[in-house]
Amino acid sequence: MRIIVLMGPPGAGKGTVSNRVADRLGCLHISTGDLLREAIAQVTPIGVRAEVCIKRGELVPDDLIMALVEEQFDRRGDGGYLLDGFPRTLTQASLLDACLAARGTRVVAVIELAASAEVVLRRLGGRRICASCGAGYHSLFIPPRKPDSCDRCGGPLVQRLDDRDEAIKRRLAVYAKEMAELRPYYEERGILTVVEASGTPEQTAVGMLQALEGR
Ligand code: AP5
Repeated sequence: MRIIVLMGPPGAGKGTVSNRVADRLGCLHISTGDLLREAIAQVTPIGVRAEVCIKRGELVPDDLIMALVEEQFDRRGDGGYLLDGFPRTLTQASLLDACLAARGTRVVAVIELAASAEVVLRRLGGRRICASCGAGYHSLFIPPRKPDSCDRCGGPLVQRLDDRDEAIKRRLAVYAKEMAELRPYYEERGILTVVEASGTPEQTAVGMLQALEGR
């Protein structure tokens, strides 16, 4: 069970690049943000608790996140995983280590996508997602063929709850604070690599695959 962690500020392109590289790495993709949005859409007890935090740009409590991830491991089996947006706190990192140790494995590599504040703000401002299937677009950079309509399923394209200005500011501040603790945790193990993410999605994917060669 090969475990790769993908980190980066909101809008760095974690979801976009994961969709491009997960298959090429032979890994299943787990995005805690996507799992939470599904839980909100289905109005599950976790979804109801998470919605309040997400709207404000705050993190969802660690125990809820760990329960969601463990449920994925149990249901999807012991293949490799690309963990997108998880762990985000030191507590989540140690809960993950304990969970993986119990399964006889560990995190082999951590990729941090780096992009300037200007780049991420431009990306978040134009992001649209399909309300039916969750596919992601950008009004300028990755436009749908028909405006406001999903190429894949024809569903309506909407703005995410947390892509409003106040929530974006809060998410960026939370990311900076949590990473100040989390980065040294993985640096000390020699498994963290920073990958430049200001270019095209394919350039970022290539950079990430190169960083993971031999891991
Ligand atoms: P999550 O969904 O993980 O949001 P995030 O980390 O803020 O990241 P984003 O999804 O906004 O950005 P991304 O890096 O995936 O960029 P994307 O590829 O979409 O989490 C949301 C919330 O859930 C959190 O704030 C928190 O409340 C909660 N949560 C989640 N995980 C948690 C955890 N572990 N613990 C506690 N709480 C948790 O790209 C953005 C846009 O740019 C898109 O429109 C895309 O099309 C475009 N784009 C992407 N790459 C490029 C490129 N190279 N060139 C041009 N455009 C690009």
